[in-house]
Amino acid sequence: DKGTYPHYMLKEIYEQPNSVRDAMRGRLSPEEATAKLGGLNMTNADLRSVERIILCGCGTAFHAAMVGEYLIESLAHIPVECEFASELRYRNLPTDRDTLVFVISQSGETADTLAALRESQRKGHRTLGICNSVGSTIARESDGGVYMHAGPEIGVAATKSFTSQLTIMTLLATLLGRIRYLSYAEGLEILANLERLPALVSQTLELDAQVAAIAKKYAKAPNFLFMGRQANYPIALEGALKLKEISYIAASGYPSAELKHGVIALVNEVTPSVFIAPRDAVFEKNVSNIEEVKARKGPVIAIGTEGNDHLDKVADEVIRIPQSPDYITPILASIPLQLLAYHIAAELGCDVDKPRNLAKSVTVE
Ligand code: M6R
Repeated sequence: DKGTYPHYMLKEIYEQPNSVRDAMRGRLSPEEATAKLGGLNMTNADLRSVERIILCGCGTAFHAAMVGEYLIESLAHIPVECEFASELRYRNLPTDRDTLVFVISQSGETADTLAALRESQRKGHRTLGICNSVGSTIARESDGGVYMHAGPEIGVAATKSFTSQLTIMTLLATLLGRIRYLSYAEGLEILANLERLPALVSQTLELDAQVAAIAKKYAKAPNFLFMGRQANYPIALEGALKLKEISYIAASGYPSAELKHGVIALVNEVTPSVFIAPRDAVFEKNVSNIEEVKARKGPVIAIGTEGNDHLDKVADEVIRIPQSPDYITPILASIPLQLLAYHIAAELGCDVDKPRNLAKSVTVE
């Protein structure tokens, strides 16, 4: 039931304070200053012997994997590789014995992801699932895993399942990090920030009216560019995917610095560039990329940080998300991009919940 919302997608976007809370419920242990993921069916000694991780999925789940790569490498120092499930199933990837494989799937029924799971198990790797649908095929066949507990997602465009996946990636990185590099105090600090996450998501949703006004202004644009750096690069890809899926506007995502390697040829007066440029270690770098776009008269919509006015001088529109650590920002930055895609599609009169040519779960190859 959509309740008072015009579409399931909007309802699901608004459910995110609860869905991220549910992804963490019972999984934060302040006594041990770490995250607990009992469903992995792995002892700390098992986790300690993992030398490499492969994260695999399709579409939005693949973007969550890319954020996971960044988080696990930075918090746990374990080399991570992301693979499209459709590629992994046919690629003869050389893998060591101590490689742990995760397949990520909201539905738990995606044919390519299921095939990647089976191929990985055939090669003798412990293969874990990160799923939303309880009792789905991937959940049943994997050697353990983590449920998202996001509740049913009806809109074809993944929204709350994505932020749940990102939350679980942070939990996993914390757990793996605490066994290796993170101190008790560092673990506690991450937990304290995660405790604040549902409130930060609620605060970010208050940007809705501003994003809706921006969407109205740019809804007629023929194409969009999305850019970000580090863990926000996959968020740019996800922002572009959301817009393509439901509004049918051509949109592509890039690491911001790739602009000068070709993308900038697309910049013109009618092509908006959406930059994810929070106040972080690469903020100044993003600003110079924004300036390159402005110098070519490209409209810029920037996702910045509350309290940082610097972007006002360079961007046409600035959407400010709450200040947060690097492992939380991608979750918050996703929300205005979901709302932007939603309001543009609604403005264009598209069938937001059931976009053309798409199915919620792709059970054929
Ligand atoms: O159910 P899954 O997470 O395995 O689905 C994977 C993709 O098909 C899915 O994320 C798709 O890209 C969504 N429609 C994105 O909004």
